[in-house]
Amino acid sequence: MAYEVAVLTGLQWGDEGKGKIVDALSNGMDATVRYQGGPNAGHTVVVGNVKTVLHHLPTGILHSGVVCVIGNGVVLDPQSLLEEIRMLEQSGIEVGARLRISRAAHVILPWHRELDQLNEAAKGDSFIGTTGRGIGPTYSHKYARTGLRFGQLAETATLRERLQTQLAEVNRLLTRVHQIEPLQEDLIEQVLEQAELLRPFSCDTFTLLHNMMRAGKNILLEGAQGALLDIDHGTYPYVTSSNPTSGGACVGAGLPPGVVGRVIGVLKAYNTRVGEGPFPTEFSDVDFARNFQEQAGEYGATTGRLRRCGWFDGPLARFACRLNGTTELALTKLDVLDDMAEIQFCSSYRQEDTLYDCFPPSELAGDHRPEPVYETLPGWQSSTRAARTFSELPDAARRYVARIEEICETPVKLLSVGPGREELIRR
Ligand code: GDP
Ligand code: IMO
Ligand code: MG
Repeated sequence: MAYEVAVLTGLQWGDEGKGKIVDALSNGMDATVRYQGGPNAGHTVVVGNVKTVLHHLPTGILHSGVVCVIGNGVVLDPQSLLEEIRMLEQSGIEVGARLRISRAAHVILPWHRELDQLNEAAKGDSFIGTTGRGIGPTYSHKYARTGLRFGQLAETATLRERLQTQLAEVNRLLTRVHQIEPLQEDLIEQVLEQAELLRPFSCDTFTLLHNMMRAGKNILLEGAQGALLDIDHGTYPYVTSSNPTSGGACVGAGLPPGVVGRVIGVLKAYNTRVGEGPFPTEFSDVDFARNFQEQAGEYGATTGRLRRCGWFDGPLARFACRLNGTTELALTKLDVLDDMAEIQFCSSYRQEDTLYDCFPPSELAGDHRPEPVYETLPGWQSSTRAARTFSELPDAARRYVARIEEICETPVKLLSVGPGREELIRR
């Protein structure tokens, strides 16, 4: 039976414009699935004057009829998920009948947010700059096999006791290690109320997705974060606590690798990063960087923090494509470079007289940091925002795209030239 499973994943440090691209691909899809991360994600879609930022819900939720799945690999925060559902339903988007949440997904509890902040403070100068959403502590409990699964929210006979056990463990840590006051049990009452409201979404998503595949349906797996934030392959320890990459998609959705026919990598036309950690091509001139951030609107969709900005990093992009097995690229924010007279393009790294055109980000943490080597490419100094076909782009913009395809060894199939839904070129 003909069906298509596609994975869409970020190839940089997150915020590549995944939300906009998933939205563009959702029309032909029967289901969109989040497979890792949680409310650390902020995926933006702009339709006319309306901007929607999704944190837990797959972006397909904006398209009626698309089934939306929160997969087993996700960590979810009941309070903020309920707010997100309410926000969408108030704006006329029907969520209830289309949302399915894996019973194996893990639950972020109020104390996980608290622990996230305490862990950061305890790191002193080497803090990560997390989103403070409790992501790391929740995955820690998952891997220590003491976490709470979404399905357990429905087990009313034992839920209170499970929450009390976890809170008691956390309180021992707070009082003995951090030497602060313990958290109060009334937090448990809040979780019990939220559990009641979320219970109807509980689902065996393995069976749902496998039945959909057998019925010839199309499924899009929507990654959060990006390859350079991957817990195994990213700039550890300045990473998130999950695997955003295509391998993680199979694990986090419960689908085998052999069914994935397309891997769509999303790249920004330059690089950005929120939080701490190495960033070899980061703009060094403070005024230039400040101007660029303002003009590009580089503020975090989840925390509102200013994003660090820099030139396109070719060796890391090539690494991310190879790691994901990317079959096609979506390139976003090309319009942000419209005014530049010249563009610096990092085509390799130099380390001890050796040049590398592909470089693993985990190697950036060592003592011998490589130096980016730049090519200067001509800018196009005209607006690309009205272009709807590749041939309408200025020559220099087309050459820039071709250079990215070359270093990524992958064709660019979608090109975004503005935040709006229609500001898109399909090839
Ligand atoms: P995500 O996390 O990968 O979904 O990306 P975010 O939504 O966090 O950040 C991308 C930002 O860029 C959002 O504000 C989008 O509205 C905006 N955006 C997406 N594509 C384009 C584009 O091609 N041009 C411009 N100027 N903005 C874009
Ligand atoms: P989307 O899906 C950009 C970053 C944080 C921090 C590190 C760890 O919108 O692309 P965490 O809270 O996950 O423990 O923080 O990862 N980070 C993101 N940066 N976009 C994201 O998501 C991010 N999610 C986490 O800033 O550096
Ligand atoms: Mg984002």
